[in-house]
Amino acid sequence: MRINKYIAQAGIASRRKADELIINGNVRVNGAVLKEPGYDVKDDDVVEVNGRCIRAEEKKVYILLHKPVGYLTTVSDDKERNTVMDLVGDVEARIFPVGRLDYNTSGMLIMTNDGDFAYRLTHPKHEMPKTYRARVAGVLSREKCARLEQGVDIGGFVTSKAKVSVVKGLPRTTIVDITIHEGKNRQVRKMFKAVGNPVQDLSRIAIGAVHLGRLSEGHYRKLTREEIEYLKNC
Ligand code: URA
Repeated sequence: MRINKYIAQAGIASRRKADELIINGNVRVNGAVLKEPGYDVKDDDVVEVNGRCIRAEEKKVYILLHKPVGYLTTVSDDKERNTVMDLVGDVEARIFPVGRLDYNTSGMLIMTNDGDFAYRLTHPKHEMPKTYRARVAGVLSREKCARLEQGVDIGGFVTSKAKVSVVKGLPRTTIVDITIHEGKNRQVRKMFKAVGNPVQDLSRIAIGAVHLGRLSEGHYRKLTREEIEYLKNC
């Protein structure tokens, strides 16, 4: 971040006043008086203004990304595979994904630089409902829907109550929405496998009452103030 913006975000002065402070020799970086007004502050730089250490508060950023299949939900990958960070390169803040979606799952992913917000949203005690649209193999009978709703054993863990609603029944596949309250690894895939209808395609379409809507794959938008407040309080 440019030094004048850094000083402004630390609440010391406006950007213009910050430039004056730099010109007047009131700003030190790592102990040395700063001579360069366009200096780009690095993560571990120690910045002082008039002899006092300052730290910029990065503005909180909340975005909703439509993750495509074929992207990892991580900040980096040592095998250099695509990650969701590749899709938000023009966001200036140091955002990270909240929770995860499988490599082969698409849909709604929230990203932020607000650690408290991310912690709240992913903590099991908040039981944030998440809705997925799945295309599963075969016909999903009413009896199977009821089993999924009551809870199924996905290998040493019985899922809690879920909501299941068939969107479209086709001869060989079924399109179905499922809302769950936990976030076990590959949970939705395991649930459908447990009733004999393996997932062919999976997308997260909502977190709580916040919906993916018509956002195109690979694109993102900022969460609205109302959505942020809602997610912070539910
Ligand atoms: N359940 C899954 O099986 N995969 C996901 O990515 C999310 C939920």
